[in-house]
This record gives sequence, C-alpha cells and structure tokens, in this order.
Amino acid sequence: MTKPILYITRKVPDQIVKKITSNFDVRMWEYEDQPVPRNVLLQEVRNADGILCLISEQIDKEILDQAKRLKIISNMAVGYDNIDVLAAREKGIVVTNTPDVLTETTADLTFALLMATARRLVEASDYIRNDQWTNWSPYLLAGSDIHRKTIGIVGMGRIGHAVAKRAKGFDMSILYHNRNRNRNAEVELQAEYTDFESLLRNADFVVSLVPHTLETDQLFNKEAFAKMKSSAIFINASRGKVVDEDALLHALHTKEIKAAGLDVFSTEPIRRDHSLVKLDNVVCLPHIGSASVETRTRMLQLCIENLEGYFFGKGPKTPV
Ligand code: DGY
Repeated sequence: MTKPILYITRKVPDQIVKKITSNFDVRMWEYEDQPVPRNVLLQEVRNADGILCLISEQIDKEILDQAKRLKIISNMAVGYDNIDVLAAREKGIVVTNTPDVLTETTADLTFALLMATARRLVEASDYIRNDQWTNWSPYLLAGSDIHRKTIGIVGMGRIGHAVAKRAKGFDMSILYHNRNRNRNAEVELQAEYTDFESLLRNADFVVSLVPHTLETDQLFNKEAFAKMKSSAIFINASRGKVVDEDALLHALHTKEIKAAGLDVFSTEPIRRDHSLVKLDNVVCLPHIGSASVETRTRMLQLCIENLEGYFFGKGPKTPV
C-alpha cells in the first residue's frame, strides 16, 4: 500500500519524524526558524495528502486551489484564523487544531504578562542592565497592584477560564464577556457575566482571549479604549487583529489607558521600529503563549494523532 504523503511546513524534531515514517511518506521544510516560502508551499501542497502547518502559513484559497489530493490540514495551534476553513470545507478537506493541550501554559503566560505589565518588570530589568540604579526611592518603578483588583476577561473559553482561576488565587473580582455564559466559571470562581461595555468600564485589567473572526475583527477600537478606566491595563494574548493598533497607540499616548501587555500583533513578526514597541508602558512578547517545551511537544503530538486518526483510525481527534 502506498503511504499518504505528509508535508510538514517546519522542521520538527527527528524523534517525531522517526515515529511517523512507517505510516507516512514525510516531506518537510528543513529549517526550524524560518517559515516555508510561499512558492515552495504552493508547490508542495500539490502532491500532499496531508499537511501539518503552523500559524505562520496562510492556507488560503490560492493554496487550496493547488491542492489536488489534500484531505487534511493539521494546524499546530488552537486558533485557526490562518486557514480559510470554509474554502477547505467546500473541497472536503478536514481541518484540525490543538485545543486543551495548551490551555494551562497559555493561561500561565497571559497571567505572567499581566503581572509583568502591572509591576513594570521589563522596565525594571532594563533599569539594572542600563546601570541606572543608584538608590532606593519611594516610587521608583512603582506599578499597579494586582491582588483584589477587577479582571475583565473577554472570551471565556478554556483559556479564559484557566486565567480566571489564576485571578481567583489573587483575590481578584472576575468579570467576563463571552458569546455563551460559562456557568462553571460563575459557580466555581464567582465570575460575573457582563455586557462588553460594562466590562470595559469596570475592569482594572481588560484581557483579550477572543479568537479572531469577522465579529471580533478590531473589537478593541477607539470607542472601546475610550470606555476603559485611565488606570486600566490592556492585555492581549489571543490575536493581534482583534485590536485596532492605531487606536491602542493613541490610547496609550494620550494616557486614556495606563499600559498594555501584548503577546500578539496584527502583523507578525513586529519590528523594533514599530511605535508600540517604543513605548515604556507596553510589554511586547513574540507570540509565546503556548511556548513551553512540554506544551509545544504535546501540540505536535496531537497534530500527528489527528493525521493518524484520519488516515488509519477512527477519524481525527480534534477537528474544528
Ligand atoms: C494558538 O495555539 O492559537 C497560539 O496562538 C499559537 O501557539
């Protein structure tokens, strides 16, 4: 029997490839730190039965039109806004993602980013590296408290719930806004469901964990930032495109809000000369929400299980 051809769009560890070569004819982009060029992907997708891809690849109609025998796209992320899922569905191509395995790790990072932004950790570390520390003074690098404040979580799915648990440990009051009520969070964590506007007006920390869709595109816009407290700290750990970055920049410049912690940007990678990167009251991270060795390995493993389930088992484990 001929093996299905699997194209992997980034170099993955040898031990993972070794495990799957008995089942798949594996082809792979051979660089770990560089995305596959578009023209190579367009070529490779022609012969592939399955692809394992990352969020750095736009799997759009142009790519899908080249795919003559493609049956499954296994995306190494919980978010899948890099894939035209409707176009894939029309062609009968299955799309899978990696939910659950990254929930706790991403919640850890989201809360770490919130803390780093509130307590100005990056600025403080730079202060020593730049040899600026000459004495102790009462308000030197004084930030905002976190404990007993109000967190407003926009997008109360699995990761939102896990962030709320962490907030509970800091005696925070929890507000949330979501398409559906999360009764478990209400009972377990006394999280309070609220409309978007009240959340913006009342939260000390506004945390975005919504996926990027047509409905959430630039959800955090000029009007949204204008409703936040002037002491509010905005955290985005979902997708950059849910924010109007010019409006955010304006809100930070004019002190309409106090600070922002951003793990995601509307164009990634963001460069050093981007205006958001230059602000002292912004902490920027290079989209590392799920980046622990354990979790990234589990994500890859789940991608493989989805492919194996599709070709040799009872179907993919986590289709979208
Ligand atoms: C996801 O899984 O969607 C993350 O943003 C990538 O780690």
